[in-house]
Amino acid sequence: MRQPMVAGNWKMNGSRDFTHTLVSDLLAGGVSSCAAKVVICPPFPYLGVASDGLDGNGEVALGGQNLDVHESGAYTGEVSGAMLADMGCEYVIVGHSERRALYGEDNARVADKVRAARAAGLVPILCVGETLAEREADRTEAVVGAQLDAVIEALGVEAFDGTVVAYEPVWAIGTGRTASGEQAQAVHAFIRGRLSRHDGEVASAIRILYGGSVKPDNAAALFAEPDIDGGLIGGASLKAADFLAICNAAG
Ligand code: PGA
Repeated sequence: MRQPMVAGNWKMNGSRDFTHTLVSDLLAGGVSSCAAKVVICPPFPYLGVASDGLDGNGEVALGGQNLDVHESGAYTGEVSGAMLADMGCEYVIVGHSERRALYGEDNARVADKVRAARAAGLVPILCVGETLAEREADRTEAVVGAQLDAVIEALGVEAFDGTVVAYEPVWAIGTGRTASGEQAQAVHAFIRGRLSRHDGEVASAIRILYGGSVKPDNAAALFAEPDIDGGLIGGASLKAADFLAICNAAG
């Protein structure tokens, strides 16, 4: 039985005060007793503030939003997996569609980031998903399949062992347009099936999160689907009450 997971992707939002307040509000709202595994991913500069706010509360995990493929060295502006781990992160988002679209991360680069995350002892949350044009051209499975295959080809299916995949249709991110439970379930089942071609155990153990305009009022219907193991939440993760409601809908 897979424990559900809800991860908050704050993106490039907040401040020191905002981070402090949001973490306190989540704790005061009972996030630690949520049955789902909860992860928060603030921007890099606020990881320390978030970690201090959590104060060793092991029930809520910390994640980075990105990492570099290198361990250290002359890579100005980059952050390594080892640094994230050192700041208390257990997870890291890899290959978010904004990174792919705005920062030129292709499938090979994303695979290398999965490798770097695992090498640093972090659990990658690998994001996959199609654009609206790709969905309308009936290419969803081809696109998502290629995104998964790139990692399998580079690292083997073992790279998915104990990790997390987030299916985030690009057309649903930040648009208020959510995939229906049925649409999301179909792709989640496809993802699990693709992995099970290589390793049935890895495929059935992996958590597959849905992301894209998840809100308190649509979370329960999405999470009720058999292959949807929780959510990767953007906008709604910035409001304590909304994020808590989504966490409770998952657990
Ligand atoms: P959203 O973002 O919930 O604001 O649509 C999800 C994501 O980008 O991870």
